[in-house]
Amino acid sequence: MPTVVFIDPAGHTHNVQAPIGRTLMQVALDNGVPGILGDCGGACSCATCHGYVDEGHAALLPPRSETEVFMLEGVPDLRPTSRLCCQLRVTEALEGITVQLPDEQV
Ligand code: FES
Repeated sequence: MPTVVFIDPAGHTHNVQAPIGRTLMQVALDNGVPGILGDCGGACSCATCHGYVDEGHAALLPPRSETEVFMLEGVPDLRPTSRLCCQLRVTEALEGITVQLPDEQV
C-alpha cells in the first residue's frame, strides 16, 4: 500500500497508508488530516479538497478535467500544482507523493 505524505497548514507532516483506488481526499479524511474538508463528498463541486502536489509526482496524475479547472478557479491561491484531491485516485505509482494543504480549509 503506497504511503502518501500530507503537510497540513500548520506545517505538520502526516505519513499515511493509502489504499489503492481510494481518492487522496478520502485518504486524508480517513486519517484525520487537518486542512481538508471534502464538503461535496467528492463530486468535484466544492473545491474544499484543494491541495498542492509535489512536482515530481504531478506528471503521474491524470490531467485536470474541465470541471476541476473550473472549480480551481475559485480557490484563493491557485498554483500550477493545484489539484482537487477528490479527483486523484491512489495508484502504486503515487508512492511517496506529497500533498501540501492550503490555509483556507482549516
Ligand atoms: Fe468537493 Fe473535492 S470534495 S471538490
